[in-house]
This record gives sequence, structure tokens and C-alpha cells, in this order.
Amino acid sequence: MARPKIALIGAGQIGGTLAHLAALKELGDVVLFDIAQGTPEGKALDIAESGPSEGFDAALSGTQSYEDIAGADVCIVTAGVPRKPGMSRDDLLGINLKVMKSVGEGIGKHAPNAFVICITNPLDAMVWALQKFSGLPANKVCGMAGVLDSARFRHFLSVEFGVSMKDVTAFVLGGHGDTMVPSVRYSTVGGIPLPDLIEMGWTTQDKLDSILQRTRDGGAEIVGLLKTGSAFYAPATAAIEMAEAYLKDQKRVLPCAAYCDGELGVKDMYVGVPTVIGAGGIEKVIDIKLNKEEQVMFDSSVKAVKGLVEACKGIDGSLA
Ligand code: APR
Repeated sequence: MARPKIALIGAGQIGGTLAHLAALKELGDVVLFDIAQGTPEGKALDIAESGPSEGFDAALSGTQSYEDIAGADVCIVTAGVPRKPGMSRDDLLGINLKVMKSVGEGIGKHAPNAFVICITNPLDAMVWALQKFSGLPANKVCGMAGVLDSARFRHFLSVEFGVSMKDVTAFVLGGHGDTMVPSVRYSTVGGIPLPDLIEMGWTTQDKLDSILQRTRDGGAEIVGLLKTGSAFYAPATAAIEMAEAYLKDQKRVLPCAAYCDGELGVKDMYVGVPTVIGAGGIEKVIDIKLNKEEQVMFDSSVKAVKGLVEACKGIDGSLA
């Protein structure tokens, strides 16, 4: 059987890391697409030349032509611009919306059966626009944010508790922005919910509050340190986790920006929710019950995403 085909639209910092990880994990053959001449070809060749040492079997190529993504099983989209210090993800909307139009049309024409994972920011609005521009079914188009935000939350918790990251589970819901909602009740260490761990004296509410804020500011913290771009190792790793769940029909329960049709009270919008990812794409949006306080935070996050979607409609009339 032929190896799966993975198309990476955008061969920048995240795109290159995605290609490297996909090859190392032998998820399939990789095509890097970018408008920049030489960048995708150079990264593909460089990674291919690491194959003999690492011992992976995967073909890598770079291109400026959408025809070369034909028949892709998975497309991961990072095309666009990242933020610089002082910018919010929302500041990228105007530029990246135009990019989503050309990418969506390219995928719609050449890879209509792919499972599409968008990473470009502002994430929730961009994935919504990408689905519209591509015309692919909503369950086959999703955005990577929740896995990354949850990974940041899990990392900070594991350091706080001095336990393995493997034993920390956490969910971050809502939009991928300042209003994201790290869920305390549904986050656990070895199955013990965080509120119980406070009662047990493992941590304090104050410490947990500062971890929650650090999680919300996780992307900005990296931008502030790097100064020339935004995070790429953890975002790429998170998207690869989602791609692998699809390609191997793992039925993973992962939070991601998925199309909601009434789940969690959200209608006709993309926002971060718990999902099941398997061979059918987003096979299910898990309609969890939020308590009053969580619902207030989630609603305000949804409202922020709605504002960005309206801004997209204002910029591009074909989306209205
Ligand atoms: N089509 C294809 N590629 C494009 C297009 C386009 N229309 N416009 C820009 N690109 C390419 C750039 O040439 C660049 O190589 O997208 C790539 C983006 O790479 P980086 O600038 O390194 O950005 P990266 O850190 O990978 O982040 C990409 O993901 O997390 C988000 O906010 C981040 O929106 C940003 C995206």
C-alpha cells in the first residue's frame, strides 16, 4: 500500500518542524508548499538528508505549485505571517485572511478528500474562513489550538507538582486567544481533579491562578523571548498528534477548533471544544456540561471569536 501523503502548506518555522516530525514518525510522504522560492525545496532536501542517520522511510519534496499536493490525505496549513512582540493574534487577521483564500482554493481543487488542520492565526476565524474557501466538509477541516494550549497547561502543572507530564491531563477550551478557558475541573493529575489537589494541599489557589494566566499568555511568552517570530516546536508537535490520530484512526480525544452545530451552545462556528479524531476526521464534538462560571468564560471567548468572524465577513464579501 502506498504511503499516506501529507501536504504542508507553508514551509516556515512551523512547516519545517512539521515536515521533520512527520518524517521521523514515518507518517507518510511529505510535500512542502510555499510561495517562497527555494524554502520548501531546501527544507525538504535537508530533512531527506537526515534520513540515513535517523533511518526513516519517507519521501520529501518542496513546491510552489498546488498541483503537487494532489491527492493529499492530510493538509496542515501554516501559511501566513506570525506575530511579533506587542502584536496580538488578532492583529494578523487582514493579511492572513487573504492567504486563507488562496490556500482554501488550492486545497479545494487539488486535495478535496484531505483532513485539513489549520494553524494560522487568529486560529478560530482562520479555520472558519479556510473551510468556507475550500468547500470541504466541516468535519474534515479543523484548527490546532487546544492541544497546544493544553500541552502548555500540562507542562506548567507537571513542573508545579513535580510529576511526569504523562500523568497530567488538561483541557483548554474556547478561542485560541486571551479569552481561552483552561478547564480546572476537567484537568487531573493521575486522575485526581485539580480542585481536589488544592484541598489536599498539593498546591494553592493562587499558584493555580498564576499557572492559568501563564497558560493564556503562553504564546506571547514565547514571542517575547524569540522576538523575531512565534512558537514552532510545540505547535508543530500538537498538529502532528492530530494528524496521527486521523491517519491511524486512533479515536483520540483531543481539544481542537471544530465546527459546532449547537454543541456547548455554539451554532455555526469554529471554537475550541473537546473532540474525537479518527479516520472520519472530527468524528464527534463532545458536548460537555460547563458550570456557571465556566459557561460565562466560554461565552465571552465565543463572543470574541464571533467578532473576528464578523470582521472577516467585512473584509471579504464572499464570506458573508
Ligand atoms: N501561500 C503559501 N505560503 C505562504 C503564503 C501563501 N499565500 N503567504 C505566506 N506564506 C508562507 C511564508 O512564505 C512562510 O514561509 O508561510 C510561511 C510562514 O512561516 P513563518 O513566517 O515562519 O511562520 P510560522 O512561525 O511557521 O507560523 C505560521 O502559524 O502559529 C501561527 O501565528 C502563526 O499565523 C502564523 C502561522
